[in-house]
Amino acid sequence: MSETSFDLVVIGGGPGGYVAAIRASQLGLNVACVDARETLGGTCLNVGCIPSKALLQSSHHYAMAKDEMAAHGVQTGEVTLDLPTMMARKDKVVADLTKGIDFLLKKNKITRIVGHGVITGAGSVTVGKETLKTKNILIATGSEATPLPGIKIDEKRIVSSTGALALSKVPEKLIVIGAGIIGLELGSVWRRLGAEVTVIEFLDAILPGLDGEVCKQMTRTLKKQGLKFNLSRKVTGAKASAKDVTLTAEPVAGGKAETFSADVVLVAVGRRPFTEGLGLDKAGVAVDKRGFVTVDNNFQTSVPGIYAIGDVIGGMMLAHKAEDEGVAAAEIIAGEKAHVNYSAIPGVVYTWPEAAGLGQTEEALKSAGIAYNVGKFPFSANSRARCNADSDGFVKILADAKTDAILGVHIVGPEAGDLIQEAVIAMEFSASAEDLARSCHGHPGLSEAVKEAALAVGGRAIHS
Ligand code: NAI
Repeated sequence: MSETSFDLVVIGGGPGGYVAAIRASQLGLNVACVDARETLGGTCLNVGCIPSKALLQSSHHYAMAKDEMAAHGVQTGEVTLDLPTMMARKDKVVADLTKGIDFLLKKNKITRIVGHGVITGAGSVTVGKETLKTKNILIATGSEATPLPGIKIDEKRIVSSTGALALSKVPEKLIVIGAGIIGLELGSVWRRLGAEVTVIEFLDAILPGLDGEVCKQMTRTLKKQGLKFNLSRKVTGAKASAKDVTLTAEPVAGGKAETFSADVVLVAVGRRPFTEGLGLDKAGVAVDKRGFVTVDNNFQTSVPGIYAIGDVIGGMMLAHKAEDEGVAAAEIIAGEKAHVNYSAIPGVVYTWPEAAGLGQTEEALKSAGIAYNVGKFPFSANSRARCNADSDGFVKILADAKTDAILGVHIVGPEAGDLIQEAVIAMEFSASAEDLARSCHGHPGLSEAVKEAALAVGGRAIHS
C-alpha cells in the first residue's frame, strides 16, 4: 500500500470539485482530485448539462429547418434526421470538454487519481490500495437520479436522464415522469425530433419553484410545440415488455387509476445526494434525514478538516452553485474569507423559449408579506425579438415597494438564460429597478426588454 501527502484531497471531479481543486492550487495548496470516472467533469459534463445542451441545440436546428426556415424565405427541401451524426456530435462535445478539464488540472499541477475515494477519517482517504494523507478533505460527490418506487430503470425502455441522452432511435411515444427541468429539456429534445411526448406530473403545475406566471406561459408554449401534460397524477408502477411500457398513475385528488403506454419512459423525478461507499458513517460525517451532508457557514462538516460543497449538501442542485461553493470552500481552506450569495443564483431551463429565474418569486413575496411593485414587458413589443421571429414570453421584475431594490427577475423568452445575467449583477450590487432602467441598453437588442420591464416597475415603460 502506497502513501502520499496533500494539503487538500477533493473527492469528485464535477464542476464543484474540479473548480475547488483549481482555486486551491492557485492559492498555493498541494491538491489531489479523486474521481471514479475516467473522464473529469462529473454528471454535468458527462451525462448532464453539456450533452443535453448539445442535443437541445441540434434538435432546435432540426425543428427550425423543418418548420421555421421557410417563413424567413429559406427553402430547405425535405429535411431528414441523421440521429447517429447528432449523437456523435454530442459525444465529441463532451469528449473535448472533459479533456479540457484534464488539461486545466495538469496546468494547475493537481494530482489526478482515478478510483473510488473512501474517507477513513479526518486526514485520510483511500483509493483502492493507495492511502492519501491530507490536511483537508473536500466532499464534492454530487447527486444521482432519485429512483421511483415500483419502477426499475433499465436505461433502454425505462431510462433516467443518462439513457435519454443516448437513445438509438426516436421513440414513437415517450412518456416523461416529472415536469421538472430534466423532464422538460429532454422531453423537448425528443418532441422536436418527432416523438409524441406526454408528461405526467404529481403537482398541479410544471417547473416547481419557478414564478407562477413563468410556469403558465411555459405550459402554453410547450403545449403549442406538441407536448401533452397530465398534471396532478402520481405514477405508481410500470410494466415493461419487449415492445413497450405500461404505466399506472393515480389522480392526486383520488379516483380511479389510469394507465398510459409508451415505447420509452423517462423517469425525471429529482436527484438525491450521492454518498454511497464514501465512508461517511465511519468517519463520523453527519448527514440530514434526506442524506445531504450537513455543513456550517464555512462548508465544514461535523468533522473538522472535512468540508463539503455542491449537490451533496443540498440547496439548488445547479452546477454554477457548486462552482461558486467550490471557490469559496477552497479560499476558506486556504485561510481566506469567502461566502456565496444564495439570493443571487440564477436558474435556467434550456427549452425554447428558455426560462430563467432569479431571487424571489411573486408567490414567495406574497406569502412573506413583502410589499412589491411589478414591471412586466412582453418580447412581442421588443424589436429584436420581432426581427428574429422569437417573440414569445416576457420579462418580469419584482422590486421592493419602499426601496425599489430588485427582489426577483423572471424571464421567459429567447436567450433568457443569458439575459438574466445582467439582473444577477444588478442584484449583486444592490441595484434598484430604476438603476437598471437608467442603464443604457444597445438597440435593437433583446436586453432592451429587461430595461423596459425595469421602467415598467415605475409605470413608465416606453414601448408598451
Ligand atoms: P425536479 O425536482 O426539478 O422535478 C421533478 C418533478 O417530478 C417534480 O415536479 C415532482 O413533483 C415530480 N414527481 C415526483 N414524483 C412523481 C411521481 N411519482 N409521479 C409524477 N411526478 C412526480 O427534478 P429533475 O427535473 O429530475 O431535476 C433534478 C435536478 O437537476 C433539479 O434540481 C434541477 O435543478 C437540476 N437540473 C438543472 C438543469 C439546469 O440548470 N438547466 C438541467 C437539468 C437538471
